Amino acid sequence: MLDVVVLASGRGSNFAALLAAQRRGELPIRIRALLSDKTAAPALDIARDAGIPAIALAPADFADRAAFDHALFARAAIFEPGLIVLAGYMRVIDDSVIEDWRGRIVNIHPSLLPKYPGLRTHVRALEAGDPTHGASVHFVTAQLDGGPVIARVEMPILPGDTPRALAARLLPLEHRLLVASVDLIARQRITLGEDGVKFDGEPLAAPLQLQADGTWRAVG
Ligand code: GRF
Repeated sequence: MLDVVVLASGRGSNFAALLAAQRRGELPIRIRALLSDKTAAPALDIARDAGIPAIALAPADFADRAAFDHALFARAAIFEPGLIVLAGYMRVIDDSVIEDWRGRIVNIHPSLLPKYPGLRTHVRALEAGDPTHGASVHFVTAQLDGGPVIARVEMPILPGDTPRALAARLLPLEHRLLVASVDLIARQRITLGEDGVKFDGEPLAAPLQLQADGTWRAVG
């Protein structure tokens, strides 16, 4: 059973998806706490309603960014997680903290990485005229949204799509991708070693692709 701590800054629908899968007995994890950098994040209420420790720290209470990050991750460490999941966590984390958690921290990002790291991913995909869009789960490293990508889910961009429509159609796919990716980690099928991501003990040449039927397609 993999102990997980989730970090979220807002709505918390990805966190809720992990919680629901765990409760259905479909995800071998135990969510030990939900931490946030926003004291009013709705994700905190989802945790509280589920009886999960919900902890918010306010960046304004700390001398600088690094001090906040170290304090937040020190709180996370108390729960001894085998994995930290950034699920809509909107802060860039200090490099020194990231290194402490290398291989034990993942993020879900709403683009087909390495395309569109950072913000406004849906607008950028539309403006580029891309035929498809999607989401990625990657190990977190010091490079923003730049860590080794574990898995992606892809969908077509349709004529007339707006950024809002794209985000709305992508969100349920994100939920499925995050649950399926955390499942791979919980079952130790995905690991991050010195020589990159391994899937079932073999180097992962390209991100796994989540198919509509929930199975994985290995590419390359
Ligand atoms: C998701 O689209 C996620 O990919 C991005 O921020 C959004 C968070 O949504 N990082 P939620 O808080 O999980 O509902």
